[in-house]
Amino acid sequence: MNTSRRKVLKTLGLTALALPTLAQQAAASTAMPAANDPQYWKKIRSQFMLANDKVFFNPGTVGVMPKIVVDKMTAHARYLAEHVADWAYKDDNKEEFISGYNNLLSIRTKVGKLINAQVEEIAMTDNVTHGISYLANGITLKPGDEVLTTNQEHPGGRGSWLVKEKRYGVLFKEVTIGKPIKNAAEVYNQIISAFTPQTKVLMISHMISGSGAILPVKEICAEASRRGIFTILDGAQTIGHIKVDVKDIGCDAYAGCFHKWVGAPAGTGFMYVKQDKLKDIWTTVASARWDNHEDEGFRFTQRGTGNFPVLKGLDAALDFLFEIGPDRVYERIKFLGARLRTGLRQQPKVKIFSPADEAMCAGITVYNIEGLTGAALQDEFWKRGRMRPRASGEVFGVRHCTHIFNSEEEIDKALAIVRALANS
Ligand SMILES: Cc1ncc(COP(=O)(O)O)c(C=O)c1O
Repeated sequence: MNTSRRKVLKTLGLTALALPTLAQQAAASTAMPAANDPQYWKKIRSQFMLANDKVFFNPGTVGVMPKIVVDKMTAHARYLAEHVADWAYKDDNKEEFISGYNNLLSIRTKVGKLINAQVEEIAMTDNVTHGISYLANGITLKPGDEVLTTNQEHPGGRGSWLVKEKRYGVLFKEVTIGKPIKNAAEVYNQIISAFTPQTKVLMISHMISGSGAILPVKEICAEASRRGIFTILDGAQTIGHIKVDVKDIGCDAYAGCFHKWVGAPAGTGFMYVKQDKLKDIWTTVASARWDNHEDEGFRFTQRGTGNFPVLKGLDAALDFLFEIGPDRVYERIKFLGARLRTGLRQQPKVKIFSPADEAMCAGITVYNIEGLTGAALQDEFWKRGRMRPRASGEVFGVRHCTHIFNSEEEIDKALAIVRALANS
């Protein structure tokens, strides 16, 4: 038995008796295909437990966990149920038992690597709503100060600011942007020209969930910073989907999650705040370290008893992503998304609400067919192809996401359904 296998088993608290089944399971779960294997993506698909007779096009809501994620999470849940009495509490390895009190350095380091941040700049959260709430509650603003956002933000990004507006008289101002957005210059100008001397915070999505548009956040943040505006990006739709480099973007804060595009268990997210801005953010959920600034990310990560098996799943999901290679994942997602959009553009009765500029798109495409509602289109996909994109309201049809567990054939079958519906 090699050292790392022995370490894994020890972490899981497993005895030699459990070894054969676990070793077989692990071998089956982690056998990644070679990068140049022509069957590469088919073999990657087989790493997911997703039923073969169903097609999932909705990781924009919640993703699909690879088998290794489920295995690691359930093995740890089982371990806790059987061996919690082993926990002497004073031991330094107590982080294996409950999360919420420990610094989670290992996972925070992996998250930092993914988005190019220092570990102290990363706090673990349960989701994006928590991350944005920590920021909205933690930033000191006075009545009359403005928070600028777009008219296309998710309630999880907006809610905490609306509370702040009602409670403290801060103004939450929404600027209207296109759907579809024509190009980067258009949305840049709309946002920049809405800044006023009262604007103290800018909070926008890096990728708009209702259209899949990637905003020119680097340019927008640069102009906001020049005016002394604190910049926050909602990255619910970007992590594991497109490259995110917070240093290159230059934002002050970023909130993301892993349960959509990274394939981690639900209830996993993070908040990034730039080192020199962290000390000024008050914590919302407070425990012993509420005012301890030695490791700022830990100050927010310490948020009361949490679910360690879920973090084991997250850890495995991040390893899975790094093993394939994030860039390769982003390219594949975009390749499939572009294939879908190319096919849709050939259909005169199809209206696309994602940007026409491919540089602003990746794996999310929002479209409708003349005469249909989103709900009707969603139902047709299920009835005709056991395919699951997500309805996007009366007008905007469906939000159709592509990911590495999808194939070219699935995209082509979806396009055939669209063609049939458009011609019926
Ligand atoms: C842009 C955006 N922000 C925030 C959220 C909320 O994310 P969470 O459920 O992780 O809090 C979503 C979820 O779809 C989203 O798309």
